[in-house]
Parts: sequence; structure tokens; C-alpha cells
Amino acid sequence: MKITSAEFLKSAFQEADWPQDAKAEIAFLGRSNVGKSSLINSLLGVRGLARTSNTPGRTQSLNFYLINERFRLVDLPGYGYARAPKALKAEWGANAENFLAKRAQLVLSIHVVDSRHEPSKQDLQLHEWLEHHQKPNLIVATKSDKLSNNELRRNIDRAKQALKTNQVVIYSATLKRGREKVWSAIEKSLKG
Ligand code: GTP
Ligand code: MG
Repeated sequence: MKITSAEFLKSAFQEADWPQDAKAEIAFLGRSNVGKSSLINSLLGVRGLARTSNTPGRTQSLNFYLINERFRLVDLPGYGYARAPKALKAEWGANAENFLAKRAQLVLSIHVVDSRHEPSKQDLQLHEWLEHHQKPNLIVATKSDKLSNNELRRNIDRAKQALKTNQVVIYSATLKRGREKVWSAIEKSLKG
């Protein structure tokens, strides 16, 4: 994919704020602080377009990015941040699930997991939800630069087993490892 333009479009805190045209969208989901925003930036090759942070729970709204004036990447808030107030946790589920369930132009959900850790209960729930609702999805295991090859192989096998899938893309935002694979999945989903 040749990126000719990438711009921040808007933040949406409620459904009424979602963009109203029918452009195709690719959503990025996963645990708080797992590296969703970094993945978006590294895919686009721009630093700081999607806000990243060491503070978990940074992205609270749905953030829409317009790419090549043709399709959108959507950065969803992270789940599972233990210190978030209860009301906020409940709202995450409602907001994100509402978007995933209703959004007709959602062509792909990129489920980001941490290659260092075993998939969490919420990771499993999300994956089951996506499969059950027949939402095309891709699991991307990021932060692979933090592991040795042996650890990485072991963890990816473990994640595949837990999530009952054969397809996990090994990624590193720092090294841009896996970038071509993710883009080819996005391109495929855009051709529909
Ligand atoms: P929330 O918006 O809070 O849910 O977080 P997020 O999932 O968007 O994570 P974010 O991209 O902000 O990254 C969290 C932290 O992990 C930051 O300090 C990033 O620099 C770091 N990080 C993300 N991806 C990678 C990676 O592939 N390798 C390494 N070494 N660090 C990464
Ligand atoms: Mg983020």
C-alpha cells in the first residue's frame, strides 16, 4: 500500500459522532497499552499521528484516521485497564461492542495482543465474540522485539492454541516487523 495521505479525522465519544459516509473501515482493538496506536503509526510510517503513551487507558474515544482519502483506520479504546473506574470499564464494552456490532462498513478488525503474555480472558472473549458474529479479524502479536526467538516461538504457539487459530502475525512497531503482512491483510479486506 502506498500511503499518499494520512490524517486525523475525529474523535468520537458517542455514536452520533461516527463519520457518516460509507467509507470502508479497519478497527484496531486490544488491551490497554498493548500497542494499538503504535501499530497504526508504524503502519502509516508517521510518528505521533495516533497518540501513544506509557499511561494505560490513554485512548478513551474512538479515533478515526482517513487514509488516501479512501478508507479509515479506527483506533478503539483499550480494555482491561485495572485501575479504570467501574463505570468507565462498563462503558468501554458498550461503546466498542456497539461499534463492532453496528458498523456496516467495518471490513476488518485487527485484534492486537502482547507477544510476551498469554492472551487474557478478555482477549479470549473478544476473539470469541468476533468469530461468533462472523467479523473478519486478524490477530497481531506486537512488541516482538522484546523477546528472544525461542521465547517468541513458544509464546506464539501458546497464543494460537488459546485463541484456537492458526493465523497470528508477529509484529514490532519499533522494527516495523510484520508491516507488509498486516498491509496485505488490509488490502485484501478492502477489495472485499
Ligand atoms: P491505549 O491507547 O492506552 O489503550 O494504549 P495503546 O494500545 O494504543 O498502546 P500504545 O501504542 O500507546 O503503546 C503503549 C506503550 O508500548 C508505548 O510506550 C509504546 O512505545 C510501547 N510499544 C508499542 N508497540 C511497541 C513495540 O512493538 N515494541 C516496543 N518495544 N514497544 C512498543
Ligand atoms: Mg492508544
